[in-house]
Amino acid sequence: MRGGSLLEERIFALRTFSFAMLQITNLTFNAWGRQFLDDASVSLPPGSKVGLVGRNGIGKSTLFKIILGELAGNGDEVSLPRTARIGSVDQEHPATPVSVVETILEADTERHDLLGRLETAEPEEMGEIWTRLIEIDADGAPSRAAEILAGLGFDHENQQRPMSEFSGGWRMRVALAAALFAQPDMLLLDEPTNYLDLEGALWLEARLKKYPATALIISHDREMLNEVCTHILHLANRKLEIYTGNYDQFEQARAEKARLQLSAKAKQDAERAHLQSFVDRFKAKASKAAQAQSRMKRLAKMQPVSTTIEERVAPFTLPSPPRPLAPPLIRLERANVGYETGRPILRNLNLRMDLDDRIGLLGVNGAGKSTFAKMIAGALKVTEGELHRDRKMRVGWFHQHQIEAMDPTDTPLEIIRRAMPEATEAGRRSKLAQFGLNYEKQETTVDSLSGGERARLLLNMVAMEAPHVLILDEPTNHLDIDSRRALLDALNDYTGAVILITHDRSLMEMVADRLWLAADGTVKPFDGDMDDYAKFVLDRAKQAAVKPSQIKKEEAAVASTSNARPQKQKGGPSPSTLRHAVKKAEERVVALTAEISRIDDDLANAAVSNPKALEGLTRARARSQADLDAAEAAWMAAEEALAEVA
Ligand SMILES: Nc1ncnc2c1ncn2[C@@H]1O[C@H](COP(=O)(O)OP(=O)(O)OP(=O)(O)O)[C@@H](O)[C@H]1O
Ligand SMILES: [Mg+2]
Repeated sequence: MRGGSLLEERIFALRTFSFAMLQITNLTFNAWGRQFLDDASVSLPPGSKVGLVGRNGIGKSTLFKIILGELAGNGDEVSLPRTARIGSVDQEHPATPVSVVETILEADTERHDLLGRLETAEPEEMGEIWTRLIEIDADGAPSRAAEILAGLGFDHENQQRPMSEFSGGWRMRVALAAALFAQPDMLLLDEPTNYLDLEGALWLEARLKKYPATALIISHDREMLNEVCTHILHLANRKLEIYTGNYDQFEQARAEKARLQLSAKAKQDAERAHLQSFVDRFKAKASKAAQAQSRMKRLAKMQPVSTTIEERVAPFTLPSPPRPLAPPLIRLERANVGYETGRPILRNLNLRMDLDDRIGLLGVNGAGKSTFAKMIAGALKVTEGELHRDRKMRVGWFHQHQIEAMDPTDTPLEIIRRAMPEATEAGRRSKLAQFGLNYEKQETTVDSLSGGERARLLLNMVAMEAPHVLILDEPTNHLDIDSRRALLDALNDYTGAVILITHDRSLMEMVADRLWLAADGTVKPFDGDMDDYAKFVLDRAKQAAVKPSQIKKEEAAVASTSNARPQKQKGGPSPSTLRHAVKKAEERVVALTAEISRIDDDLANAAVSNPKALEGLTRARARSQADLDAAEAAWMAAEEALAEVA
């Protein structure tokens, strides 16, 4: 690609530099009594996939807010090309009555605006609008959206359900899908794998690798950082430093840098000692006073070599249960479990767990892993069959809902006060310090704590009572890479039983002795290792993909009727292009009319006692009606344009 001459290389380098997608220059940021960035600079090359890494609480999410303009640094230090579109994942996607797939389609604002403009545009503008719609492949949008949604675990049926029927975690997936679909020039993702299962994470890795624009991804997920990233941006010591390569290469580069720094420091220390001893010996001697003076000056001028070794993270303490119970810990015989209403989620469970078992529980989202955990934790009763467990058995259960359910106005100190009512205030504070939360953090409200800080607090609290079984449901989400290692160390020292649910393959491999799989309405031992499981998951995904691609088939059928998509011609679209446009517009009118009559049916059936549903339906109807009006106008306009050229 590059010609090879020196000049060409320099031009190439210059171009790369001058077209940086994101340029941060001398950025300083102070807030909440701390300095986060001090004169930090970096430039991200276009098309790069950059992993933003750094300790929990160091300010990564804060940096995103600065880039997005939600927080202001000092001066105008963040710049993007003037026309660049920047996109990120909303933390909260509201529970609207709009269907999942429509929510995604609306994320492509250009397409949405163009379709809207068709309604009011003058006839002479129509051609231009249609041309642009064709350029951005607006017709292909629904199948692109469906493909992304299928990858993130929404089957065809679920794609049509309204947002309001999904939990917060699933709506986060929709938000992620929307960001990918809109395909901004600069995509910002803050720990995207946190709300995905292994299947979703694998899909996202593949997707991001092919992402055609620039992406900046905060992640603590080594696999993700290695698979996807072309660069690593390290936030540490209030500076930003960019490294070429993936995470493993970054670690090597840093280790090498630390080694060089240490050896430079050792050299300098030796020189300093030598100069000092000369000064000490000769400063009193008149004949050598001048030399001693010059050496003293040299000593004073010496810049200390900085060794930028980060502080150690606080270890985790997982106290082991004091006295073992009689084995087995848990025995399940032909047990069914489910919720009060409805059929059992898991049936015919025949499993046994011993005192020091390390079980890795596998299964895609929705397979019943959390139900299983809930049952072991004693929060859900078996509906049939038997579950034997010692009455004295204590269970520590950590799961993501705990983080989501935290009261945003609470503080760690308040939380520990409730957990340790008998202790002294000093005792509680030292407990929190032991958890790795320093004095100021202890009184910071939950909504201002970083994700990692919250997770650390809850994990430590769950283990505080020295449980016999620790159920850890995605414990490493939010934790930085060193904290993950610290958790692994603590798990190795812990003598109780462990049930681990994680999409972190390496953690699973290092902790679990046995694997169980939740699938097809039951939990059974899985015969194989994590590689076998990854294969199993991808095979299943391929089979499942047959369903959502129904949409694609329909699209393909439509496309094939007008397969000879015309080349763009000067002076407006060709008749066949316009015919295609007419056909699409007509289809849209038909679809919207059907949708409105469906909503009308729902409205007729909706109980008056449920004002929420009524409100949602009424709003949905108003939207669909507006869309229908626009679509009808577009249809007419397309017909007219066709009549003119035909
Ligand atoms: N509004 C606020 N008031 C007080 N402290 C805050 C506020 N917002 C953030 N902080 C603190 O600033 C620090 C940086 O937070 P940020 O969320 O940027 O960290 P992070 O690098 O994204 O960490 P993590 O890896 O855990 O997500 C944290 O220690 C957090 O407690
Ligand atoms: Mg963060």
